[in-house]
Amino acid sequence: MYKSLLSSLLLAGSLSLIACGSGSGGSSSNPPPVVPSSSQAAISSSSSAAVSSSSSSESATSGLRELVTFPVGVAVNAGNETLSLFKNTDNGNNQRAIVEQHFSQLTAGNIMKMSYLHPGENTFYYSHADALVEYAHEHNISIHGHALIWHSDYQVPGWMKSYPGDWSDMLKIHVQTIAGHFAGKVASWDVVNEAFLDDGNYRNLGDDGSIFYQKMGKAYIEEAFVNARAADGIADLYYNDYSLENDGRVKLDAVLAMVDDFQSRNIPIDGIGFQMHTYLDWPSISTIRTAFQQVVDRNLKVKITELDIPINNPYSGSYNFPDNYHPTLTPTLAAAQKRRYCEIVAAYMDVVPEPLRGGITVWGIWDSDSWLINQLFQNNHDDWPLLFDDFFQPKPAFFGVEDGLGYRPCS
Ligand code: XIL
Repeated sequence: MYKSLLSSLLLAGSLSLIACGSGSGGSSSNPPPVVPSSSQAAISSSSSAAVSSSSSSESATSGLRELVTFPVGVAVNAGNETLSLFKNTDNGNNQRAIVEQHFSQLTAGNIMKMSYLHPGENTFYYSHADALVEYAHEHNISIHGHALIWHSDYQVPGWMKSYPGDWSDMLKIHVQTIAGHFAGKVASWDVVNEAFLDDGNYRNLGDDGSIFYQKMGKAYIEEAFVNARAADGIADLYYNDYSLENDGRVKLDAVLAMVDDFQSRNIPIDGIGFQMHTYLDWPSISTIRTAFQQVVDRNLKVKITELDIPINNPYSGSYNFPDNYHPTLTPTLAAAQKRRYCEIVAAYMDVVPEPLRGGITVWGIWDSDSWLINQLFQNNHDDWPLLFDDFFQPKPAFFGVEDGLGYRPCS
């Protein structure tokens, strides 16, 4: 089991293997808003019925987005995805209600990735993404673009993999055409996603390698940023990766060295995206704080781009499915998750000064739609990593985020 989980993640190219153990900028110099304290309301049961009865001391705020001036985001399904938020179904209606009440930024979970937007060398496909942008703007919601360049095998368009010409020219056209199309419509971009391995080396060969590195060396990263800036002079440009907050620090150090080099040569970069696919027990808050601080020290924005916190951690030493995984979201576990969400948000609020807050985005709306169910747990069992249950009711985790954003103590 452990092996197959690992190999699937290597293929997915997306999660930390060390785990064992970004609005319109949104910055402002306003003081934090005064937040009313929580009052009474029941939380409906989810697929984990045990949570509902005992976690009822909170009520949903009028909207998470109202609590802060920086973007509070969520990743959504859109376009022709099965569970698109635009479906005229109860599911779609519930998604839109939550998005419109609580979030000020959306990231497309998939439909703004490379193969969706640039399926043929001379074909760019914008209809689905444009519809998402239009919907967002109608509701005063900004868009974080994800992602212009990503090695992930399923996301590099087929034509690109066998592109025979000059890769620097090809990358320029790809980045400038897409960034140009969305200029003025997106607040920010993940310009390059996941260019480094956990050991701090550039992702190069192998299943989890990067064809961009193979063809262009590390120059592809800066060329992506230069071209993104040339096509969109305003959007915030992020380098985005997972496990930057890890305890070993090697990966973060490598990214920071790249950033220092960029800054010394005036290569445009506005911030670092921390995916933050974290766990209840990893990494420590002090490690997370240190990582944020290092980015702040460089006067770059910090954006939490893909936050989720599953209950089960398949990398923890004691994990041995099915013997000792948590099959139910008990009140105790839900409370631990609430506290953890709060502590991460509180660390962000404490360490990152307002002008450098690129925002906090959660990777999905309701628990069973989380990518982790499929990619981390291989559909072997449930987990409950997100803020809303399968009945679209806020979980204790939601109130943890609310407390963190509102500068209330984490409980
Ligand atoms: C995930 C999506 O959520 C899934 O629907 C898809 O099958 C795979 O990609 N890091 C990233 C995101 O940068 O693009 C990934 O999104 C999750 C990990």
